[in-house]
Amino acid sequence: MGAREVGLPDRVPASSGLPRRVRIWEVGPRDGLQNEATVVPLEVKLEFLDRLADAGLDTLEATSFVHPKWVPQLADAEQLLAGLNRRDGVRYPVLVPNRKGLDRALAAGVGQIAVFASATETFAKRNLNSGLEEQFALFEPVLADGLAAGMEIRGYLSMCFGDPWEGAVPAEQVVAAGVRLLELGCFQLSLGDTIGVATPGQVEALLAAFGAAGIEPDRLAVHFHDTYGQALSNTLAALRCGVTTVDSSAGGLGGCPYAESATGNLATEDLVWMLDGLGIEHGADLDALVATSAWMAQRLGRPSPSRVVRALTGS
Ligand code: HMG
Ligand code: MG
Repeated sequence: MGAREVGLPDRVPASSGLPRRVRIWEVGPRDGLQNEATVVPLEVKLEFLDRLADAGLDTLEATSFVHPKWVPQLADAEQLLAGLNRRDGVRYPVLVPNRKGLDRALAAGVGQIAVFASATETFAKRNLNSGLEEQFALFEPVLADGLAAGMEIRGYLSMCFGDPWEGAVPAEQVVAAGVRLLELGCFQLSLGDTIGVATPGQVEALLAAFGAAGIEPDRLAVHFHDTYGQALSNTLAALRCGVTTVDSSAGGLGGCPYAESATGNLATEDLVWMLDGLGIEHGADLDALVATSAWMAQRLGRPSPSRVVRALTGS
């Protein structure tokens, strides 16, 4: 059954105090598939990306140029980029942790990359084999040379709302790390709730702390994992604060293999359902997304964690 048949209104007037349009930054092919217990075959990854482009998404985070032993699920990054059916108007950013990753991305003809930092010492060590301070030395040459090569570079910041080893993370520590990434030349900073513990009040407080440091919401994106079921509420809080780029993952796949208790990302279908209900434009076709996630769930051998996918497919 399609979204319209179950009563989703065609279009409602945009709610006041919310953006008219949101850019969906789809991370399923990267964040989703990096956390699978098995390696998804290359041809399935390529079809996944094709289907997501068909569903109207214009930003598809495709893979990572990280160490293949650290993330074997994405060890086929070169083959994936070579086999990609690139569409006009669609961006295919990839994750790059260091100079070696940049070289691989340049050789693959990639135009958009993202570096990924941690707001905490422990996760910097576990995820990057670096330290909170030392990690910036990894990114400096990536930013300098990547920008010189004409790349568009995003910055991710993980553990912005809580860390499984360090507990609560002070907002000033998060802001300081985020400002560093922006000063290095990232065009946008995506605030990661890597383990899905944030609540809307915390989101508002962190965005206010960035505002006090001179970072306006138009330079920020939000990246919520849904471990505690707060991802949609947190997204709405961020939209009310003026954020207009939201990361999500088709079918709600995702998680970081180096972050304890991280579950899937905010599902793109759940996000789209809410945006439609709020009259916010996004450009995605919900039925095509649901069909894609149902197809992927079959490939992965388990139902999608997305509530909207489950409701519309009766799974
Ligand atoms: P390291 O072991 O410290 O690397 O790992 P190294 O610099 O010491 O180099 C050791 C060897 O690795 C060398 O080879 C390098 O060439 C090679 P050797 O000389 O021994 O033959 N090497 C590489 N090979 C391929 N690609 C590379 C690369 N770099 C070095 N890029 C490293 C450091 C950063 C590489 C490692 O820690 C790593 O790959 N980490 C990635 C972890 C990861 O991908 N995590 C998931 C993504 S982050 C995330 O999910 C969070 C996010 O979603 C936001 C949120 O939710 O909060 C973004
Ligand atoms: Mg993530």
